[in-house]
Amino acid sequence: MIKILTSLCLTIPVLILACGPTGDPSKAAGEKDTGPLPLSAGKSIYSTHCVVCHGTDGGLGLNEAGDLRESEMTLEQRKQIISQGKGTMIAYRRILSEREIEVVARYTMELKKEGEADE
Ligand code: HEC
Repeated sequence: MIKILTSLCLTIPVLILACGPTGDPSKAAGEKDTGPLPLSAGKSIYSTHCVVCHGTDGGLGLNEAGDLRESEMTLEQRKQIISQGKGTMIAYRRILSEREIEVVARYTMELKKEGEADE
């Protein structure tokens, strides 16, 4: 039974919430809470928390999530949505630190650039 619960938590990132903050692999041991994180951290946060609704390229659009590649939002607006949530998107301010929100927002801006390059 515990095993089933554990694998559920791994397959459905949203359920990580239900399992408490220890389920967040982006909070590496001993990590200091200052200074900007590298964009690679944004990618790993994105694959943990956001892919389930937005897809790896930002274009999945589950639950009518906007296509992140086509979003016109500024970095500030993205940070706001990510921290406060909107519609079925949950608020991440209790889950991610401010700089994690910042770097994942920056990462979603990169998705846009990649999307444009593809066309
Ligand atoms: C449970 C599904 C879900 C998850 C998980 C999720 N989102 Fe969303 N997201 C949505 C939905 C739905 C919207 C559209 C909200 C609306 O406009 O009503 C949205 C909108 C957004 C927008 C605004 C796009 C635009 O231009 O309208 C950004 C940016 C965004 N999400 C980033 C993220 C990031 C970064 C993460 C991970 C930290 C994340 N989302 C996780 C469902 C989700």
